Amino acid sequence: MTTDVLVIGSGIAGLTYALKTAAARPDLNITVLTKTNEDETNTKYAQGGIAAVLNEQTDSFDKHIEDTLIAGDGLCNPEIVDIVIKEGPVRLREIIAWGAEFDRGADGEYKLGKEGGHSENRILHYKDVTGKEIERALLHQADQCKNITLIDYCFVIDIITQHHLGVLVTKATPAIECYGVYVLNHETHQIEKILSKVTLLATGGCGQVYRTTTNPRIATGDGVAMVYRAKGRIENMEFIQFHPTALFEPGKRFGQAFLITEAVRGDGGILRNSKGEDFMPRYDARGSLAPRDIVARAIDNEMKILGDEHVYLDCRHMDPEKFKDHFPNIYEKCLSLGIDIHKNMIPVAPAAHYSCGGIKTDAMGLSSIQRLYSCGEAASTGLHGANRLASNSLLEAMVFGHRCFEHTLKEIDQYSIQSGIPDWNAAGTSDPKEMILITQSIKELQLTMSDYVGIVRSNVRLTRALKRLDLLHEETEQLYKTTTLSPQLCELRNLITIGYLIVKSAQFRKESRGLHYTLDYPVKSELLQNIVL
Ligand code: FAD
Ligand code: SIN
Repeated sequence: MTTDVLVIGSGIAGLTYALKTAAARPDLNITVLTKTNEDETNTKYAQGGIAAVLNEQTDSFDKHIEDTLIAGDGLCNPEIVDIVIKEGPVRLREIIAWGAEFDRGADGEYKLGKEGGHSENRILHYKDVTGKEIERALLHQADQCKNITLIDYCFVIDIITQHHLGVLVTKATPAIECYGVYVLNHETHQIEKILSKVTLLATGGCGQVYRTTTNPRIATGDGVAMVYRAKGRIENMEFIQFHPTALFEPGKRFGQAFLITEAVRGDGGILRNSKGEDFMPRYDARGSLAPRDIVARAIDNEMKILGDEHVYLDCRHMDPEKFKDHFPNIYEKCLSLGIDIHKNMIPVAPAAHYSCGGIKTDAMGLSSIQRLYSCGEAASTGLHGANRLASNSLLEAMVFGHRCFEHTLKEIDQYSIQSGIPDWNAAGTSDPKEMILITQSIKELQLTMSDYVGIVRSNVRLTRALKRLDLLHEETEQLYKTTTLSPQLCELRNLITIGYLIVKSAQFRKESRGLHYTLDYPVKSELLQNIVL
């Protein structure tokens, strides 16, 4: 199959890019691939909303820029921060014009919420299901576009470069180019190639590398792992954000945890330990609304001191009607577990949430590989630095979806479909005898990462993690060489690569900064540097 433009990912990043390109160039065909259901994305689960300065009388770009830089702890790229914060409101209005709804007050003005690290109320939201509403609107628009073809259940295995033409490609190769991808077709069970003039990787995050995460099953870091294998540049993978308040459900040890949005704390929710103490003011003057790295670390510490598996979010003092109106989904979820938020505190614990690093891109979203763009959570644009400010992710995805589109328009006509790309060679492989080996290895990996590469790290913990990853890598490569490929096996392989990138980057960073905290180097170094692998 060939296509002019290939988009991998149907979340906010991929669809923003696809919709704009389709509208500006009706002569181009655009193919969007997604590995399961078209709406099963991190985007769908976003709760809190989108941060943007909509009213310059009550807020300002400067304040949003400053909040982003403070959260990023010295490592944001100021040029990129300026771009995203200033272009954000225009992109937001486009998404509204595409049909996404956001809550308005009785006066018709948008209701603006507050989250950790924000000095003003500037979060647009749709109840507590903002992402679901955005995903609905974007998919609806894509459905109307004649030149967009969306293919679901199509798993991308690897990007195609000169390597597949028999050229030796290394990190030092000056002009690596992307010609398309190899995919696993769920219907035919065959590995097919899709060739393109340009490709966008909008494959989202990698939360599944940890035991508990707010991310759905699809978040296995596939795009980052593919680019790393293709010898492209990956940046700042040590900065994994743990969301402080994922719902703690006794007995649920692995997998996706339900999020209790930070907006609940923005509306007055207070964190308490098992003794009932409002502990956050002991750690930060901003209390329960301090930036996420500080809150997650404080919770981790309280849990360790008291030997608890969770802390509590106290909403008992909040106005019941207002709570139900803003957070209907959370209210119902808690009630379904026997937690009446007006009588009972909500048990919460930190869970892996967001990858601040990823595929290194320039200011137009171009990766270190030519003809390959990346945006959204998979990319490292320089916006987040060492820690992402809440609700800046959807904003970044829209802004960079647009920038990738602008660059594509300028460049695409010079490219043609590459000839001579060989078919996938599956010789020597046979059906797996024990799928359980794959599931067990994923669990081992998730435990290793959570136990040794979590919120608090140390040299010893990282060395231990690397040893265990080495063994998992060796066993998995053996399976990969001899077994018929399945999405599960590919995801395991990708997750091991992600684990390796996080551990190696963490080992290179000999300081504590933002989301990376290590007992061996508790203070910040004078040197400001990004870790690029
Ligand atoms: P995603 O939306 O995750 O989409 C990834 C796409 O890539 C999917 O379609 C997937 O199928 C596809 N894909 C991946 N690998 C492959 C492959 N190998 N082959 C084919 N397709 C593939 N951010 C905010 O700004 N505000 C919030 O309120 C907020 N709340 C959040 C709440 C939760 C519970 C979570 C998990 C995240 C939240 N975030 C929030 C973060 C934000 O939702 C994500 O960072 C953002 O949605 C990522 O969008 P994306 O388009 O980059 O990727
Ligand atoms: C939340 O709603 O708390 C998540 C917001 C975010 O991750 O930006």
